[in-house]
Amino acid sequence: MKKKLIAGNWKMNGGLASNEALLNGLLAGLQQAPACDVALAVPAPYFAQVSAKVAGSAIALAAQDVSAHASGAYTGETSSVMLQDFGVRYALVGHSERRQYHGESDGVVAEKARQALAAGITPVVCVGETLQEREAGQTEAVVKRQLAAVIHVNGHCISEIVVAYEPVWAIGTGRTATPEQAQQVHAVLRAQLAAASAHADRIRIVYGGSMNAANAAELLAQPDIDGGLVGGASLKAEDFLKIIAAAR
Ligand code: PGA
Repeated sequence: MKKKLIAGNWKMNGGLASNEALLNGLLAGLQQAPACDVALAVPAPYFAQVSAKVAGSAIALAAQDVSAHASGAYTGETSSVMLQDFGVRYALVGHSERRQYHGESDGVVAEKARQALAAGITPVVCVGETLQEREAGQTEAVVKRQLAAVIHVNGHCISEIVVAYEPVWAIGTGRTATPEQAQQVHAVLRAQLAAASAHADRIRIVYGGSMNAANAAELLAQPDIDGGLVGGASLKAEDFLKIIAAAR
């Protein structure tokens, strides 16, 4: 059986001192190897701090984004090869905040996934519908369109990605998808992956959107929920550790 993946997404939060305290708390709680894989998507300026701190632990380093380009005149961007220099193992691509505030299209997200794969970094491809899209009955069509863009990028095996289903209306709102709502979409994504790859069962489809210490176990018990992408609750060691403990 594949291990579940619990990834924290710090977003634009943290600082040298608070990162140190949070990581100390996590490392203390993870002295016994967890049953799941664990990753932290931290702001790029803290890669060096976090990678030094988590070396030899169960925590893998993740990036919150990666450039769609290999190198060159792209002010402000970070390439997948730069991520590689810091031992980054996963990179979120197409987070809804990137799609919404930075105008990232499905095509750009697919290029980002391709750049990550080329550097041996696992892209965590985020898909999810807005509340308006859900209410209009478009959930399936939206997530399938977003995932299709990545599936059709050739050159790499689709089984090397992680998919994160993150309904936009559940992110940072305290309003979680019910386990049934989430499972329903995960099953749709699994079927889409199965049609594209003989190894779809190996691909982890994780849920994100107000996952917390209280609701994680129920979400993670669903047959097609293979982990979590955790924003707010990853900023408190105690909460994040509880979510990790629920992932077995
Ligand atoms: P949240 O964020 O857990 O704070 O809702 C999840 C995410 O955006 O990855």
